[in-house]
Formats: sequence, C-alpha cells, structure tokens
Amino acid sequence: MKLSQALFIFVCFTLCSCYQQSKPGAGKVLEFTGYYQEPHRPQYHFSPGSMWMNDPNGMVYYEGEYHLFYQYYPDSTVWGPMHWGHAVSRDLVHWEHLPIALYPDSLGYIFSGSAVIDYNNTSGLGTADTPAMVAIYTYHDMEGEHAGRIDIQSQAIAYSLDRGRSWTKYAGNPVIPNPGIRDFRDPKVFWHAPTQKWVMIFAAGDRVRIYNSADLLQWELVSEFGKDHGSHGGVWECPDLFPLEINGEEKWVMIVSLGDGAPNGGSGTQYFIGDFDGKTFTSDHSPSDVYWLDYGRDNYAGVTWSGIPREDGRRIFIGWMSNWKYANLVPTKRWRSAMTLPRTLGLRQTEKGTRLISQPIKELNGLRSKSYALERLKIAGEYNLSQRVPFPLDLSELVLKFDSVTSTSQFEIELSNDLGEKVVVGFQGKENRFYIDRTQPGKIDFESGFPGVHFAPRISMAPGLSLHIFIDVSSIEVFADDGEVVMTDVFFPNQNFTTIKILSPGEGLILDSGEIYALDPIWK
Ligand code: FRU
Repeated sequence: MKLSQALFIFVCFTLCSCYQQSKPGAGKVLEFTGYYQEPHRPQYHFSPGSMWMNDPNGMVYYEGEYHLFYQYYPDSTVWGPMHWGHAVSRDLVHWEHLPIALYPDSLGYIFSGSAVIDYNNTSGLGTADTPAMVAIYTYHDMEGEHAGRIDIQSQAIAYSLDRGRSWTKYAGNPVIPNPGIRDFRDPKVFWHAPTQKWVMIFAAGDRVRIYNSADLLQWELVSEFGKDHGSHGGVWECPDLFPLEINGEEKWVMIVSLGDGAPNGGSGTQYFIGDFDGKTFTSDHSPSDVYWLDYGRDNYAGVTWSGIPREDGRRIFIGWMSNWKYANLVPTKRWRSAMTLPRTLGLRQTEKGTRLISQPIKELNGLRSKSYALERLKIAGEYNLSQRVPFPLDLSELVLKFDSVTSTSQFEIELSNDLGEKVVVGFQGKENRFYIDRTQPGKIDFESGFPGVHFAPRISMAPGLSLHIFIDVSSIEVFADDGEVVMTDVFFPNQNFTTIKILSPGEGLILDSGEIYALDPIWK
C-alpha cells in the first residue's frame, strides 16, 4: 500500500470513528457527508459543525475578532445540558469554530448571557495590560428543577485573559442569587458611561430587571420594566438594551424575546423605544402597543454585539433562526439550526412613528460572486428569473425595486423545485401587507403547525417598495422597505429551490430595477 493510500484510509477511519463517538444514540448511523454538505445545511449562515444549538450568547468584539458564543449541547441534536459553544470571525461572515468555552458544573447548566471587555479592570479579574473578557450567564440548576424548587436560576460570571480561548469561572458565583423567581435569566451587561456603572438587564418572568454595579461582582437592583407593557403571550427571555441615534437625538431600545405569542405563532422578539438614565427605562409607547422586530417565525433570542469600536458605531444583531414550537424537531440530521444573518439595527421616523429597522450588514456584499441586472420591466403573469439569470439561485440575494405599488397591487416571488414544493414571498396592496407562504415547502410532517402563511403589516403607504431577499438553501430573510419590515423563515425542501419566478396577476406590475446575486458559501 502506498503511503498516500494508507494516509487516506487512516484519515477516513479517524473521521468516521470521531463522528460515531460524538453521536448520541449508539447504533444509529447517519450518512457521513462532506464538510457542511448535508441536506438543508445553510451555506453562508453560521451553524455549528454538529449537534444542537440555540440562542446566540456572549457576543463581543475584541482585538479584531467578533466572538459568537451560543447555547450548545455537544452530545445530541436535541436540547440538553447547556454549554457555551464558541466561534470567532474577523468580518462577521466567515467563522472559525473554537473549542467549547463553558461547560455545565455543579451549579448547573450554562444558560444564555453576554460578554464584555473590562478595559478598566473594574473587576480586578484582569490586569491593566490584559483586560478580562467577562462572560455573564445564567446557571440553571437541573437537580433543583427536578426537586420541584423554583429558585433554580441565578446570574454568574466567568473570565478569560487570552481572547476567549480559555475560561475561569468566578469563585464567588453566583453574583446574583435567585430571590424566589422561577424564570430569572439571560443577563445582558453593558458599560453606562454617563453614570460610570455597569448595567445588567435580564428577564424575570413577565418583566425585566435592571441592576447596577461598579465592578461586575456586586450588583444592586435598581428598577424593573414591562409587567404592564407589550406582549405577554409567553415568558420574557433574552432582553437587550442599547442606545441608537435618530435625528441627532439618542433614544434607547429594549428588545425582549417571548417564548410564545409572536404574531405568527410561537416564539418571537418585541421591542420598546424610550429613554434610559442608567437605572430606569421609560417607554415612549402606550403600554398596550406591541412592536415586533421580525414577523417571520424564525428569528428568536437575538441580541446585539458589545464592544463594537466607536469609529464603526453600528449596533449589530444576530438571532437564532428557529422557533421553540419545532426547534427540536426540524428535519436536519447531523446538526440542528443556524443563526440569522447579522443585521445592523437603526431607528427611522416612518409614517406611523419611530420604528426599529434591521438591515443586512454590509460585509455580506463580499459574498457576491456573480450578478445579473434587471432593467425596468412590466410583469403581467409570470416572469421566470431562473431562466434568465445564468447562475443557480439556491444561494442568492435579490434586490427588487418597485415604484408604482398601489392598493390593488399584488405580487409574489416564488421559490420552487421540480417536485412542486415551494415557498412564496408576497405582497397584498389591499391589505398593505407582506407574507411568506410556507404551506408547501417540502418536509412538514415533523410538526403540525410548521406549514402556514405568515403575515407582516407594511408600515409605508408609499408607491415605492423595495424587497431585499436572502436565500440560503433552507432559509429566507426578507428585508422590505429598506429594513422597515422583516421576515425570517426556514424550510426543508426535498430538493433545493433553484427556480425563482415573479408572479403578478391582472394588469401587471412594474419592476423598476432588480439586482440578482449568487453568493459564495462560507464553509470550505
Ligand atoms: C431562550 C432560552 C433562554 C435560556 C436558553 C436555554 O431560547 O430559553 O431563556 O437561557 O434558551 O437554552
């Protein structure tokens, strides 16, 4: 046997046996496919190499690296004892997987949380030269849960002095013990310069709690928000609080995920706009108002990066692209779920008031490998994009501009395959709303509520309407009207959707301009 043959067999054997060992359910052999080549595997979204992932955690920028930690269970493709998985990126698009950062211990599972860089060494955990990267997370005591106790969640910290590569749990954990509240989790910490204090916000049942600290170790409860505000269709989770500018004025935005009760069913994320003085958040909305960050079914538990350099100034968000209604059931084999594309958040004065807008980060432009421009044209009936565009569309980006939308306009962008499976993005002028129809998207029998039509009210009444759409094998993200209305949905076709048609019944529709891009995969 030649050395190269021997090496090849050795590599195959090692890969296969590693894979077998890391798999749960001994005896169940999954098909081994190439790196990130499994059916439904997103090609330019972040997903774990294998096994279960949920919320993004601990997102922080430090020394040229964007860190992304995430709720991770390395022994199964269903939720279980939570760890923090870890990846880094230099551009928020291409990711390098790193070893697991935090493992469960005698205090419990490691639930969601955030991370900061303690530049002034307020905690004393670092040094003046080497500031600590501090992770603030929730312990969930599973034994306590099984024993029927309610004081099972507490806030704790861990720190790293080597750019997040190795971690030490703080000996004085938990830093905020449980006061007798069942749901008490998901801390987001940030430095509030005007008051020279650390601020922690986390979910406590039907509201958020806000704490202050000078050193990240001793925390004082300073306020609560939300008991009588917004949607309460499910328990509150994963809050975030950050400033954004609008017309030269600083406003504060609070985002709060809810386990249930989103407009199209299951889990979703609402937001509030208001003011924050370092202790108290005051909402500008009436208590009954509810605003949603995303009207699709698959953007949950999203929060924003901390530590983005001032000269950049963006507020960058990423969410978990799933829904607790079916997250554990979706038909992927080796891994479960992906993150949304990173999005830049902003505030905009719209016809209906100030709204939070989400736009895909500009770094994604670097994935464009081919492009095709559409001239102004009238679409009456059907326009088959895929017959004109000389590249496949299952990894693609569409920028479509319409300039004469009225209350009678109606159109659809249909993704389909040869099996008759499809997902449709549509607009109805009469109702002034968008929708994603995933009633026939391929595999649906894993959860009865998965197929359905998801609606999103349009805010603008203007005749100019834009749709910015990202398609990545098993997901679609729609940014309408330049980020004013967003919808994110996943789907699992039996063959990738490679056909895209624009459909417009009746008198027709003027497409003002269109740019279609093929996007490169990020996993090589
Ligand atoms: C949100 C959530 C968090 C919790 C984590 C557990 O999806 O339920 O509230 O910390 O997931 O994995």
